Order: sequence, then structure tokens, then C-alpha cells
Amino acid sequence: MIKYFKKILKRSAQLPKRLSIFFPILKKPYHSILDERIISIRDIFYQHEQNVSDKWVNYFDIYDECFNRHIGNNSNVLEIGVQNGGFLQILSKYLKNATLYGVDIDPKVLNLNLESNIHIYNFDITDEHAIKQHFKNIEFNIIIDDGSHICSDIIQTFKLFFSKLKPGGVFLIEDLHTSYWQSHGGSYLGAESAIEFFKKFADLLNFYHIREQHFEKNLSSDDRYIFQWLRSIYFYDSVVVIHKLQKPRKTPYARIMVGKMDPVVPVINLAKQEGWYQY
Ligand SMILES: C[S@@+](CC[C@H](N)C(=O)[O-])C[C@H]1O[C@@H](n2cnc3c(N)ncnc32)[C@H](O)[C@@H]1O
Repeated sequence: MIKYFKKILKRSAQLPKRLSIFFPILKKPYHSILDERIISIRDIFYQHEQNVSDKWVNYFDIYDECFNRHIGNNSNVLEIGVQNGGFLQILSKYLKNATLYGVDIDPKVLNLNLESNIHIYNFDITDEHAIKQHFKNIEFNIIIDDGSHICSDIIQTFKLFFSKLKPGGVFLIEDLHTSYWQSHGGSYLGAESAIEFFKKFADLLNFYHIREQHFEKNLSSDDRYIFQWLRSIYFYDSVVVIHKLQKPRKTPYARIMVGKMDPVVPVINLAKQEGWYQY
């Protein structure tokens, strides 16, 4: 019996080799077939030897989660805060075919010698005139705010750039732990803190469910734009990620009931009356 199982195991181990005669792709070890599609930015980061960049280790999984679907898609990427340009180089390798734009307040960034798909600008990211001058006709699939980390700058930058994010795009803000530091205009639950600004997005997402009228009355035009386009907001240690909808939301999401039996609670009739029963 054991001999029989050993024989089956041996034969099944040889199967990929035999099949590879007909399907040459199977000649590659399985992990290397996967590697061509699933690239981790962590690997690119650790192998990077050009201009420097430093990140917190928990960021790599976040980048993979948020940026993976933009790989090879000719994405436009904006990095706010370039410094030595290392992260733009890493993103360029990771995203492939992307066009990268970096903005930094430090004029020395203009001397950086980076790849031809990386464009560097020198201005204060909150300068509306400069934004219009340089980015009038450009929209981005990915925006990364790794700039001053000062709360008022983070909030203003988001308000200025969320409308420059393409539908379906992602806006990632790094090092938000400064929201808890007075040195950067923050403090725990502080009214001026950037993290408090983003916590309010939970309410904006649920706009259609809030029954107190003063909530809607007190919304600014920025708030209204954000709520119409907001798909989701994720909080991580020191990072917030905002995903933009493919098109603006003008009505509440539809409710739908499927199934034809309700033996415990008779809910079908109610759903029929209210118009959200499928059949
Ligand atoms: C943390 S470093 C960026 C590091 C870079 N992203 C990396 O990963 O290698 C922050 C950069 O933001 C720039 N910065 C600070 N305030 C800015 C502002 N208001 N507008 C644009 N850039 C700013 C600084 O000059 C600095 O180079």
C-alpha cells in the first residue's frame, strides 16, 4: 500500500515537467511565474541603490494594497515632498510606464538628475498660483503627501488636490503621527489636527443616513465635493488613504433583497412595498 502511494506521489511530482512539453510557461518555477505579476514594493525598496529614501516598515503593505492595480497602467503620480528623489525612483520601478511628478519647496531638487519619466517642480505645495501654472491640465491617479507634515499644510493640500485626483484614484498621506504633535500644529483631539479633519470623513461617507439637519446645513463646498466623490477612507498607523469614486454620488446607494423564502421573519412583503425586492 505504502509503495503504491509513493509511486503516485512520484508520478504527480513529475506532472508539471511532462505538461511543460506542451505548455512551456510551466518550465519556470511556480514562484517566478507569480513574481512577474505580483511585485512587492518592499523588495524594490530594499534592493534600491540610487538616491536615498526612508520609510516606516508598515508602509510597504499599504503601498502594495493601494498601488498594485496601477502597475503598468500609464498612471500619473504626484509625490509632494521629493527631498533626494529616492522614492520617485522606487515608484518608477514599481509602477512601470508611470509618469511621475514631484514637488518640493527646496530649490535644490531642481538639480536632481532623475529618470526621464520623473518631472521635478520647485514650489510650495499650498501655492495655488503655482499649482495652476504647472498642473493646469494634469490629473493624477495617485497622490502621495510626504511634504511638510504640518497639519494646516496637509489639510490645505488635500483640499487643493482632491479635485485633481482622477476618478478611481488614490490619495495617500504619510507620517500623520505629527497630528498628535504641537510642533506640527497638532495635538490629541485638537481642532486643528489633520487626523481630526480626516476622522470627519466617516460622517461625510454616511451623509445620507444622518437625520440631524444641522449636519447638512453646516457643510462647506469643500465638504460637499468630498462627500460626493468619497469612496472610502482607511486609517493605518501614521497613514491615511482615501479612494475616489469612479463617478460622483448623487443619491443614496440602492438596497436590494434576493431570495424567495422568509421562514423566520416575513420581510419580503415589506421589501416589495418599499420597492427593493429583486423579483
Ligand atoms: C520627508 S521629506 C520627503 C521624502 C521623500 N518623499 C522620500 O520618501 O524620499 C519632506 C520633503 O518635503 C519638502 N517640503 C516641506 N514643506 C513643503 C511644502 N510646503 N511644499 C513642498 N514641499 C515641501 C521638504 O523640503 C522635504 O524635502
